[in-house]
Parts: sequence; C-alpha cells; structure tokens
Amino acid sequence: MKAMKVLAVAGSLRRASINAAFCRALVQLGPGRVIASEHPGRLPLFNPDLEAEPPAAVGDWRAAVQAADVLLLASPEYAHGISGVMKNALDWLVSFEGFVDKPVALVNTSPRAHHAYESLQEVLRTMNARLLRQSSISLPLLGGCVTETAMVADASVRAAMQGLLRTLDAELTGMADVGPSVQW
Ligand SMILES: Cc1cc2nc3c(=O)[nH]c(=O)nc-3n(C[C@H](O)[C@H](O)[C@H](O)COP(=O)(O)O)c2cc1C
Repeated sequence: MKAMKVLAVAGSLRRASINAAFCRALVQLGPGRVIASEHPGRLPLFNPDLEAEPPAAVGDWRAAVQAADVLLLASPEYAHGISGVMKNALDWLVSFEGFVDKPVALVNTSPRAHHAYESLQEVLRTMNARLLRQSSISLPLLGGCVTETAMVADASVRAAMQGLLRTLDAELTGMADVGPSVQW
C-alpha cells in the first residue's frame, strides 16, 4: 500500500500547543511522509483584495497543500469556535482550485470540545474537501500527554497515532479505487 504524504496542520500558535505537539509527534512516527506545517503562523489575515497578487506566504501555503496527498487538521476550540489561525488558513484555500476534493482528516485533541470539530466539518464540506471519516479521530490528550515527547513515549497514544497513519493510507487507497468523493 502506498504511504501517503501527510501535511499536519495545527490551528494554534501557542509555544506549548498540544495540537502543534501532536503534529510534530506524528512527524516522528512517520518520518519522510508527514510534514508539520508552519504555514498558518506566517499567513496574513485573509483579504480577498490580496488575491490579485497573493503574498508569498500564501503561495507557499497553497503549494504545500497541493503537494500533500492529505491534510490532517488539529484545531483547538476557542469560545466554542474554530481557532482564528485555522479558519484564516482555510479561508486562503476557499478560492484555490488545488484544494477542491483534497482529502482532509480531523484530529480533536480535547475530550470536552466538540463545537469547533463540528464547525470545521461544516466549513470543509462547504469548501468541497473530501472529509475522511475513518481517519478523523478524537484523541484525549488535553490533561494528559501534552508534549511531543510524552505522546511518542506513551504506548497507547503512540499506537493510536500509528493506527491513524495506517488508516489514512487505507482510506485514501480505497478512495483511489472507488474514484468519486466520499463526503459526510
Ligand atoms: C481563549 C480560549 C478559549 C477557549 N475556549 C474553549 C472552549 O470553548 N471549549 C473548550 O473545550 N476549550 C476551550 N479552550 C481550551 C483550549 O481549547 C485548550 O487549551 C487547547 O489545548 C488549546 O489548544 P493548543 O494546546 O493547541 O494551544 C479555550 C482556550 C482559550 C485560550
């Protein structure tokens, strides 16, 4: 089975971000195939007026998205919503053709948060992404394993992350066989 290239995107700029740590831990477990994106923190605030001549950071972000087989989004919940960082990064992809039909999986690292997760699904449906149901997981890291080192060292978290990489490959391969979009 082909190992798919994963772009793991955290919706938090916090130094000790659990979502960013999750993305980096996944890089450790999938070396050479997972990239932890640093693009969201470099993007300007979305402004359609800039579309005529998109800033370099926007071009870099879009190129990284296009090059990936799948996006893995890990967004915190702020006041029952998607983080502004994640929403801003997605807004830059709304009119980007390379995002249409892009396979996307979601990771929810907080057991008590569900509004942002559900909202993210709605946004991605609207953007015509291919939402990967089997590869979208809730992994209760908040309050437990909060650093990249702890996540990789913890047997059950490590197993869940390795399982996620296998499921991504299987789900994407199945999609390639089937052809048409699979949406929630
Ligand atoms: C301003 C703010 C608002 C938050 N609102 C919520 C919320 O509505 N629901 C929730 O479950 N957690 C909420 N949290 C907790 C964050 O989701 C949690 O701290 C998460 O770990 C942040 O992600 P990060 O560790 O990747 O930075 C909030 C945190 C902050 C700083």
